[in-house]
Amino acid sequence: MKLSIIGTGYVGLVTGTCFAEVGHHVFCVDNDAAKVKMLQGGGIPIYEPGLEEIVKKNVAAGRLKFTSSTAEGVQESDVIFIAVPTPPQPDGSVDLSYIERVARDIAAAMTSYKIVVDKSTVPVKTGEKVAETIKRYCAAKVEFDVVSNPEFLREGFAVGDLMHPDRVVIGVRSQRPVAAMKEIYTPFQAPIIVTDINSAELIKHAANSFLALKISYINALANICEAAGANVQEVAHGIGLDERIGRRFLNAGIGFGGSCFPKDLSAFIKISEQVGYDFKLLREVQRINADQMERFVKKITDTLWVLKDKKIGVLGLAFKQNTDDVRSSPAIDLCQKLLKDGATLRVHDPKAMAKARPLLPEKGVTYLNDMHAVAEGCDALVVATEWDEFKQLDLARAKKGLTHPILFDGRNLFDPAEMEKLGWIYKSVGR
Ligand code: UGA
Repeated sequence: MKLSIIGTGYVGLVTGTCFAEVGHHVFCVDNDAAKVKMLQGGGIPIYEPGLEEIVKKNVAAGRLKFTSSTAEGVQESDVIFIAVPTPPQPDGSVDLSYIERVARDIAAAMTSYKIVVDKSTVPVKTGEKVAETIKRYCAAKVEFDVVSNPEFLREGFAVGDLMHPDRVVIGVRSQRPVAAMKEIYTPFQAPIIVTDINSAELIKHAANSFLALKISYINALANICEAAGANVQEVAHGIGLDERIGRRFLNAGIGFGGSCFPKDLSAFIKISEQVGYDFKLLREVQRINADQMERFVKKITDTLWVLKDKKIGVLGLAFKQNTDDVRSSPAIDLCQKLLKDGATLRVHDPKAMAKARPLLPEKGVTYLNDMHAVAEGCDALVVATEWDEFKQLDLARAKKGLTHPILFDGRNLFDPAEMEKLGWIYKSVGR
């Protein structure tokens, strides 16, 4: 099928590339001309495992093209996906100005029937607004359909999530676009659910809020485990084997971050408020998440006492492993808190150091390319992101580098009994 994707951020670029990978012809559109030029020249603006190879392969095959012209994208395709940012406003509600702008641009360029699909995470009833907007601004007065098709990919696993989705949600207000939408997704061999538009939009916010709730639940349990002398990982394993609960997203730590969960939670609380429901449960999820970080910082200060002039090694800056994304990263938040209390930091992240630099003060932070160099001369080491490679840290070498063998593990990467045997003062979460 001939498709275009407006917006080449995480969702747009990976979606467009995977559509091309299964044989569709895709135009990726972005109004950032420099980004388009970079993509046309074979550069990839984000780090996402496996993406570069399939971008190159599909560009070479002539199935994937980049342009900064929305009109070109619209005219060259039958189905147009909107994948632009929906950032939060200061009150937690969603800024829909990019969506509105794109809806107007699409409307202005339409000269024949098109299916306009929203992929961005949007509040319920946005589809109705998009349809109204297109109708109002379409000079050619051609027919069109609006579809909601939320995306569930995780950064760091985006290609795999897109190529093998758990489900595809298609929200429609008439049957007309259903066949085309099914044709687009049939190669992905996933269950396809057809709903009304409002339900499809709600599914996305409901899914992300539930996953965030699951993380806050295990973090709250971690606090009980600490107080009661239990091990949260064993509890997670024990409850997770119940298929109704499931083990995934039950890893306790320093809380969730990233560009989705914090923003989507605030948005969903606001949306609920607007339709007349006070979603107190989700407010509590937010509170537990914020407390989790405070508790971890307290663990550090309880042990090191005064942080002023202490040197702390930090492993991890990204909001989770396998990404260079530092947006709302708990690791960055932690660094800022330690710096504020007067500590100086030696930091390492396998991918996120360049993106972290602008968020941290220049003074007091040393960036190191080798994770083993981080401990040198430090008073303690902190694990802030769950990168698998940190598990390979040479503990004997790290111990030698530190003035005292103290490790605060915010992601439970090491075994407490083993660490104790090796002579470490080891503090993790919920164990
Ligand atoms: C999340 C959802 O998982 C995706 O399904 C969704 O499509 C995406 O948001 C989105 O709305 O675009 P993502 O933000 O990439 O994906 O990251 P996750 O893998 O969900 O992790 C979010 C945060 O939760 C990270 O900070 C991670 O460290 C933390 N987390 C995750 C935990 O603390 N414990 C866990 O057990 C799992």
